[in-house]
Amino acid sequence: MNLLDIGGGFPAPYDRKVRPFPVLARLINKEIDRLFPKNIEILAEPGRFMVATAATLVVKIIGKAVRDGKLCYYVDDGIYGTFSGILFDHCQYHLESFANGRRHLCSVFGPTCDALDTISRAERLPDLPLGALLCSRNVGAYTTASATDFNGMPRAKVVHVNQR
Ligand SMILES: Cc1ncc(COP(=O)(O)O)c(C=O)c1O
Repeated sequence: MNLLDIGGGFPAPYDRKVRPFPVLARLINKEIDRLFPKNIEILAEPGRFMVATAATLVVKIIGKAVRDGKLCYYVDDGIYGTFSGILFDHCQYHLESFANGRRHLCSVFGPTCDALDTISRAERLPDLPLGALLCSRNVGAYTTASATDFNGMPRAKVVHVNQR
């Protein structure tokens, strides 16, 4: 054996529980040193680690309700669109508000009225009006790739922003 492929699975910063890459790299290197000969060639296949941070989704609040005392938002993209990674990648994305204010535990649903179209049952968001925007970071991997136009709702438009 002269080549070891350690595959993908290197994390993107989806939430604060994700440990910084240098911490993981130290552990991986330690285990490679422990388990394999020194002259072995190592190959990795990072996917989300390279591209997840490249995209941020912006959604609009199109509906709002209070159910059993809990604030529920309906937004214009969901499980059948950019958030399809919740199903296919078992990834929990988070939503942030552009506005400040006291934050409440909220549920966030997609636009289709389908029970599966649940983005999150535990986001901390302020009380926002219809039309307000929310954003979700780190949607550059396994999102638009599996998005559909289910129920006639078009998938999100991709806008490229070149930053220097
Ligand atoms: C064979 C293979 N390698 C690497 C990856 C990348 O995985 P990740 O994005 O979790 O790093 C994938 C993703 O589908 C894969 O199929």
